[in-house]
Amino acid sequence: MESRTLDADAALASPPSGRWAPRSWREHPALQLPTWPDAAVLDDVVIQLRALPPLVFAGEARRLTRALSSVQAGKAFLLQAGDCAESFDEFSADAIRDKLKVILQMAVVLTYGSGVPVLKVGRIAGQFAKPRSSPTERVGDLELPVFRGHIVNDDLPVPAARVPDPRRMLTAYHQSTSTLNLLRAFTKGGFADLTHVHAWNQQFVASSAEGRRYEAIAEEIDRALRFMTACGVDLSTDSPIHQVDLFTSHEALLLDYEEALTREDSLSGEWYDCSAHMLWIGERTHQIDGAHVEFARGIRNPISVKLGPAAEPDEVLSLCERLNPERIPGRLTLTSRMGVDKVRRALPPLVVATERAGHPVVWACDPMHGNTFASESGRKTRHFDDVLGEIQGFFEVHRRCGTWPGGVHIELTGDDVTECLGGIEDILEEQLPLRYTTACDPRLNARQAIDLAFRVAELLRGD
Ligand code: PEP
Ligand code: CO
Repeated sequence: MESRTLDADAALASPPSGRWAPRSWREHPALQLPTWPDAAVLDDVVIQLRALPPLVFAGEARRLTRALSSVQAGKAFLLQAGDCAESFDEFSADAIRDKLKVILQMAVVLTYGSGVPVLKVGRIAGQFAKPRSSPTERVGDLELPVFRGHIVNDDLPVPAARVPDPRRMLTAYHQSTSTLNLLRAFTKGGFADLTHVHAWNQQFVASSAEGRRYEAIAEEIDRALRFMTACGVDLSTDSPIHQVDLFTSHEALLLDYEEALTREDSLSGEWYDCSAHMLWIGERTHQIDGAHVEFARGIRNPISVKLGPAAEPDEVLSLCERLNPERIPGRLTLTSRMGVDKVRRALPPLVVATERAGHPVVWACDPMHGNTFASESGRKTRHFDDVLGEIQGFFEVHRRCGTWPGGVHIELTGDDVTECLGGIEDILEEQLPLRYTTACDPRLNARQAIDLAFRVAELLRGD
């Protein structure tokens, strides 16, 4: 995954076409941005953000593009996962550790299932801003400005809390730096040790009757590890197998924040959005002449675009041309989020169009956002079976098209929440209120997420 081709390097160094600057998005219509009440406070915050160190290094983003080019070539699988919205309130070392633990556990199972390296990208250390379907929401008798994520306003159901406050961008920056610092410590310091991660998976398998259906896969992974040791691979504490790479990502929604963290790389002279390794454009903001596409086209980080069931082939090809005119493999991921009932119909024309046009895209499946519905009690939820069903449909489409189903994009938490229905413990509607803590969309809990990884591993193996 680390090998770089000459072509990829040459392409990474050449400038994007057209006039672009970190602020050129301001000349384009921008959806989903808050109206900041006080321009002077905003200016002051932006000046401070610009002076703060980057969160990631451009070289790391280039490394991720190269790793994604392996996914594009069918030689790796992408696992992108984390919270729907990170929260200022639910911020702790334990929560970060537990989320990382789930991602690592899923990655081991998926590596085994896919037979290729799994590239791990968190929705973490910056995933704060939320696009919303409506600018207001009703809470009881109150009509309030909608909650747009803790980087913008607060979720308390009172009018004062909903006023956008630019100073929140500084809090988000600082929370992201400490999250990233801990993630780097965990991933390089021994916590991610393959033998630990495997032991956690064995505990998962042993801890319930439902988990035991995965005993055979866990046993095969165990045998593979023993085989590696027998072949002389050093699995002890000092070996490189204890280190993993976890890249960060979030939706590039709040452009004031993203612009302030966009820096010129001193090595290549290119612009990188140093708020995360990878950025994505959401389903509500991918208008071809909109501000978000304009911003993303000029940064050299790997980019992803979410595509809902209404996406048309022409529109998708225009996005490919605008965002990846040089056709750099790994630069552009298309993340379909169609819904379980629509993926088999809506996805094939898009896959066929990009193939015909020769656009080297990574295809990923977000099986969460097309499958949200309101439960009887009015809580937003998703059913595990729909999530799995959309992934299954996504795999079927790619099998039919002869393309590589490059990865999955999942909303999860390491906590034992009750936000999504079904799964290994079969969470029922009446259990949703027990531990429903998400700041935005419903997330798979740790056990549902690992259950999903085993199911996807079965699909990948054709079991
Ligand atoms: C999200 O990823 O949290 C999100 C809002 O997704 P989408 O833009 O696909 O609706
Ligand atoms: Co979400």
